[in-house]
Amino acid sequence: MKGLKVLLIGSGGREHALAWKIAKSPMLGKLYVAPGNAGTSAVAENVPTLKAMDIDGIVKFAVAEDIDLTIIGPDDPLNAGVVDALQKAKRKVFGPTKAAARIEASKVFSKQLMEDMRVPTAPHTVLYDASEAMGLVRDHFGEPGAAPLVLKADGLALGKGVYICRTLDEAGEAVDEIMVKQVHGPAGKMIVAENFVNGREVSMHALCDGTNFKLFPAAQDHKPIFDGDFGPNTGGMGTIAPVPWFAHQEVVREHIVEPILQGLKKNGWPFVGCLFPGIKISREGPIVLEYNARFGDPETQVHMRRFKSDLLALLLACVEGRLSEMHIEWSSDFAACIVLASEGYPSPKYKKGVPISGIEEALKVPGVEVFHAGTSIVNGKLVTSGGRVLGVTGVGSTLRKALECAYAGVEQIEFEGMYYRRDIGARSLALCREF
Ligand code: GLY
Repeated sequence: MKGLKVLLIGSGGREHALAWKIAKSPMLGKLYVAPGNAGTSAVAENVPTLKAMDIDGIVKFAVAEDIDLTIIGPDDPLNAGVVDALQKAKRKVFGPTKAAARIEASKVFSKQLMEDMRVPTAPHTVLYDASEAMGLVRDHFGEPGAAPLVLKADGLALGKGVYICRTLDEAGEAVDEIMVKQVHGPAGKMIVAENFVNGREVSMHALCDGTNFKLFPAAQDHKPIFDGDFGPNTGGMGTIAPVPWFAHQEVVREHIVEPILQGLKKNGWPFVGCLFPGIKISREGPIVLEYNARFGDPETQVHMRRFKSDLLALLLACVEGRLSEMHIEWSSDFAACIVLASEGYPSPKYKKGVPISGIEEALKVPGVEVFHAGTSIVNGKLVTSGGRVLGVTGVGSTLRKALECAYAGVEQIEFEGMYYRRDIGARSLALCREF
């Protein structure tokens, strides 16, 4: 049988991890990554001129190259309708349509559907203008002992649209940024307000074919920039999987993934792709913070280290509506990913073009794989080109061993201003010493 021609859209660590795994598939003929990064060029052919938001360009490429399957990595092209455009051109594509991707792209839509389908989530209020928002904020903080208030811009905001406000002043500033200064553009036309809920967070992933789904074991991200979970949020500074203290897989299956897939399908928006609920384990059990409509980054990096089945076969089965025939086999190992970032990240003011050394040495550490994110090759040299630069992953029969493996890889790598968290997985280890 002729090998499949596959086009993967994106340029982050998630896409390198997906490309690394797809490149191992016996079904693969040729893999393109557009635009890709320095890491993806080692396992696929990059198409650097084809950007993730160039919807017409992606369709033209898929048709001209007779691509059998296109896989969409990031959220923005999903929201821009890349899946609808490819489907119109009769191309197979892994990812939700624009209508189904609203589960991530609109917090108002997502909360409404959660309510309709009785998915556990914090009660919310939708705010349509700044004076209404300020009224709610004043009422909330007027109550003695008020819980922190979470204000979320409705639309996609590069992961920066969620504000956890502990005081009236903080909430006032958030409303000002979102609705008056409009720092997130049209994403801030509406705000979802909800009470802050205490608890630990986990990331769940489910491959979906519109009707059926396969749930991955839990992963845990570490979003704040500094050790101890201090400082501003980032896209994610490190992950572990599986999460040793997590015991709610069946609740997630039955009350969080199943009903939302049913709700989307019932309304005529069947979800094909990776559904990624962000979950908080509250005192009453798991509640949904948000749904994402794509693979997580850097969650994908740890999942791909443990995924033993043929990923390409699974993704194709999602698109062809035959996921129920498939099975996913997981390694019994733990996996950990440590993100190496540029000095200054997550502020957009960081240096680019800084030379990187030591990756070959890191790859010699048994169990280490290094996934590139913000890297490029300039004049034959590997240099930084983004805030999150590399994800160094390790595996081991225990969580402790996986973390030791990943950090041993990190020690080999250097670039000026390199920053990483030194406590990835530490809380999980403290909670579950036997792991
Ligand atoms: N790591 C969080 C995300 O991908 O949204």
